[in-house]
Amino acid sequence: MTISSSLERRSEHPSGRLERTLIDAESLRARVEELGAEIARDYADRDLVLLCLLKGGIYFTADLSRAIDLPITVEFVRARSYAGTSSSGEVKLSWIDGLDIAGRDVLIVEDIVDTGLTLIEIWDALEARGAASLAICTLLYKEKRLAHPFAVRYIGFAIEDVFVVGYGLDYDERFRNLPHIAVFQPDESARSPSRQGRSPLDPP
Ligand code: IMP
Ligand code: MG
Repeated sequence: MTISSSLERRSEHPSGRLERTLIDAESLRARVEELGAEIARDYADRDLVLLCLLKGGIYFTADLSRAIDLPITVEFVRARSYAGTSSSGEVKLSWIDGLDIAGRDVLIVEDIVDTGLTLIEIWDALEARGAASLAICTLLYKEKRLAHPFAVRYIGFAIEDVFVVGYGLDYDERFRNLPHIAVFQPDESARSPSRQGRSPLDPP
């Protein structure tokens, strides 16, 4: 039995459906290998810390770290966006206090850059902790977002402005364990009252 042999049950959701595959598992695997090789070249002889943003970055980080042939370390921070009363969102970071990054080269590993709010928050927090250098590696990047004040050094795939799930990305905590990236289409009529009026493209 291969990892992706049975998708029927994990593709189920009561309030929407998977519309189509955007990036299949083999394309993900090939691109992650390329990124790993590029990062290994760029960070040879450096003290690289891969900093995984949980939860979405978990699968990407697991695969990317194994594609980097250097003696790296891997750390984890939890970043959660709250749906506040305003649409600007609020990002809460957990576990950042214990990070040992002073004087080290930190590569932030993110599942997707959408509004960029998460990265703005974490960038400032890491700078304050004395990282020698900071850079961002994201698996997915929504192309329509042009106004980010930071540079994303490594991009797996630039994608259109659709809501995607799988390979770590979720909709209401579901679908993270799909081996590919799929477009999720919520069913308007099945949305819970608290979610009505909210687009899945709004910050979670
Ligand atoms: P930001 O808007 O760049 O701060 O993205 C915040 C977080 O929203 C990302 O790390 C993801 O967890 C989530 N997110 C943004 N776009 C999508 C999407 O298309 N699918 C699933 N999660 C998303
Ligand atoms: Mg999420």
